[in-house]
Amino acid sequence: QRKYRADYQPPAWLIDDVELDFDIGSAQTHVRATHSVRRNPEGPAAEDWRLDGRDMTLVSVAIDGRRLGESEYTCGDSALVLHGPPEAFTLTVETRIDPEHNLSLEGLYRSGDILCTQCEATGFSRITYFPDRPDVMSRYVTRITADAQAHPVLLSNGDCVETGSAGAGRHYAVFEDPFVKPCYLFALVAGDLGVLRDSHTTPSGRTIDLRLYTEHGNEDQCAHAMASLKQAMVWDEATYGLEYDLDSYAIVAVGSFNMGAMENKSLNVFNTACIFAAPETATDDDFALVRDVVAHEYFHNYTGNRVTCRDWFQLSLKEGLTVHREHQFAIDQGSPGVTRIEQVRAIREVQFPEDAGPRAHPVRPESYVEMNNFYTITVYHKGAELIRMMEAMAGRDAFIAGVRHYLAKHDGQAVTIEDFVVAIEESTGLDLAQFRRWYAQAGTPRVGVQTDYREGALALTLTQSTPATPGQPDKAAFDIPVSVALFDEAGRMVREPEVLRLDTAQAEWCFDGLAGEPTVSALRGFTAPVRLDHAPDDAALARLMAHDSDPVCRWDAAQSLFLKTLVAGVAARSGGEALPEPSERLFEAIAHLLSNPPADRALLAAMLTLPSVARIGEEFDAIDIHAVCAARDHLKQAIATRFLEEFEALRADHAALQAYVFDVEEAGRRRVFRLALDYLAAVDAPGLRECALELSRTADNMTDRMAALEALRDLPGEARDTALAEFAERWADYPLVMDKWLRLQAGTRRADSVEQVTALLDDARFDFTNPNRVRALLGGFARGNPAGFHRADSGGYTLIADQVVRLDALNPQLAAALAGLLTPWRRHAEPEASAMRAALARVGEGVHSDNTREIVEAGLAEAP
Ligand code: ARG
Ligand code: ZN
Repeated sequence: QRKYRADYQPPAWLIDDVELDFDIGSAQTHVRATHSVRRNPEGPAAEDWRLDGRDMTLVSVAIDGRRLGESEYTCGDSALVLHGPPEAFTLTVETRIDPEHNLSLEGLYRSGDILCTQCEATGFSRITYFPDRPDVMSRYVTRITADAQAHPVLLSNGDCVETGSAGAGRHYAVFEDPFVKPCYLFALVAGDLGVLRDSHTTPSGRTIDLRLYTEHGNEDQCAHAMASLKQAMVWDEATYGLEYDLDSYAIVAVGSFNMGAMENKSLNVFNTACIFAAPETATDDDFALVRDVVAHEYFHNYTGNRVTCRDWFQLSLKEGLTVHREHQFAIDQGSPGVTRIEQVRAIREVQFPEDAGPRAHPVRPESYVEMNNFYTITVYHKGAELIRMMEAMAGRDAFIAGVRHYLAKHDGQAVTIEDFVVAIEESTGLDLAQFRRWYAQAGTPRVGVQTDYREGALALTLTQSTPATPGQPDKAAFDIPVSVALFDEAGRMVREPEVLRLDTAQAEWCFDGLAGEPTVSALRGFTAPVRLDHAPDDAALARLMAHDSDPVCRWDAAQSLFLKTLVAGVAARSGGEALPEPSERLFEAIAHLLSNPPADRALLAAMLTLPSVARIGEEFDAIDIHAVCAARDHLKQAIATRFLEEFEALRADHAALQAYVFDVEEAGRRRVFRLALDYLAAVDAPGLRECALELSRTADNMTDRMAALEALRDLPGEARDTALAEFAERWADYPLVMDKWLRLQAGTRRADSVEQVTALLDDARFDFTNPNRVRALLGGFARGNPAGFHRADSGGYTLIADQVVRLDALNPQLAAALAGLLTPWRRHAEPEASAMRAALARVGEGVHSDNTREIVEAGLAEAP
């Protein structure tokens, strides 16, 4: 059943206090919930009260202590309806749930030996009957009783106010959370856990007890997460003036988790993949991921928890804002240019395709069937870009004051995106009337740049248009900030950066007093999530690549230069012609970069990394994926051949490193090293295999070891298989490392990759019920192996389709995500497009969950 934003109605009854009593047995769990309920004076005048609930057994329901008779309520598959309850009363509901057999990983479930919960968006209604909507906010008291040996650690939101023995080897603990919260922020954990403890003292002098729980034996992998948490606390205090508001903050890392992490009040539950980070087992990228996700969840304590969403259409209210805060934090941790480049890449390579496909939706969606399908890069990252634009318009200090105003004005409330925008307007004085369209209209605006230079004056014309998206045929003009600077022939900046506001279909600006025709550097820092149609000639691109002071534009100029060659290559290949050789201009630009490298090594690596297959695909209406792969390989080989000595030198340079440290400089050096290995592998350079095999054995850190394995994985000969086998043996006890092993194989380019992945499905080291394993193997294949996934005999599509159907019966949320990989079929050339569509249709015949069905239906719907 589809829900519409326009149908919002306030809740008919409110629950001020919730008392939960969990009796955890060896199989089932009894939940007794006692609520103080009153009619909402602002709510509709309903007779009946509907409480959401599914997949559990109702034991009893009572009002003011009197057990209700059968005629006083109706209990169905998805709800308990109370007929004509009083105006104010105490409701007691007893249910029985079965965490042992809950493979959906929503509600209460078991991960290894840990019982844990995931309630966002609507998992709480798998625990008890409750109005499972974020605008019902309550104070919670939670009592947990469990076997003391199996579950020595008991946790829930807030402060632990009582513990004791419950007889017969059982014990109990009681928790009180003084802050009102919606039920999606409820959490409970019970298990036999190891803990890492620390503390943080806030500027106002309060000491917060910090605890990080994991299954025993993993404590040594948690130090970086703990350090990151403290960094995030310090940053939020210094930047936003926000201090943590309870005496303790706990994180629990579990191995089976559908996403990255969850910001439950004072009791975050995390995927181990976003907590564990030790040099031996995690790469630099993993270290950065852990740091950023830990910070993200911490930042939610204000932007999400203290002020939450009125309904799920407002999800970007908390996620867009929190991702933006996370992005600011990440940029402040060093290497700001490359950090921003990574953010831009995510938008261009993942969000733009989503926004151009059958699942395009506004940052504030208008309707959904299954909310879990809307935890998207559009809601999260495009949402963050909208916030970033507001920050740019207001200036950082004024923006932060605006966020503080918003938090103060709405503390303890469940509000809307509109409430946020109004608060920012009130505080900063900005007029965001037209800007609001960014929340309502889906699709990526195309911004055209035309220049006309005459006698010292440059006329710059910007245009915009936005393609139709499902349900939105015509788009009104967006308010688009475009930062522009001008450079002269020698690469000197002759006009300081200036933000042009394009808020009509077309507008013109004039820059005069110029000594010669300038080079335009546009959309500096990626000031708006738009596609820029701007085609400077090769000489101008080389100039920007060498001299632009904005790292994003420097990198983008390099990407554009590569893209020109790649697009020509794809066209030639599709037309059955030979792949063209890159121009001398391109080689010169690379040579210049290699001999004048930027101080930030990571920027050098980013600039020399070829556009991904996804990025190249963005240049075409109908992607010939095999031609894209061929053109990219060809360019990589040409560059590797020309600069063999330079890449050898960069490789040798790194050999003399000391012990691993995760910091900007060292991570930058490792990134350049990995890039060098990648180019050397492209031409199977002499000695490379031996060197990589050796490194896979001796490196003191996972970053270099993975660089070695990635270099080897597509090469012939024994070195590859030896290295992979040794790796599997050495890391057999580390599931997250084995995910890397699965991913490496899933991404290997070979004719039989579909068969390899199929065989791995039956490998003892794979586990179909664990999302991390599934993402590594099947996600790693569909995303990381375009040649295999799009194989001519459709074997890749069939593999994914079959597994989606199988997964749908266990974990619909994950099945839906995987099904999404088949939806962009229209973007592909024939015969791939039809074959992909057929696979999607097959999925549609085999799946039953709302989650996956919604994805399939969107994917099969007619184009807008
Ligand atoms: N709120 C969590 C976060 O962004 C993610 C929850 C995702 N939930 C879901 N059902 N997909 O930190
Ligand atoms: Zn979040």
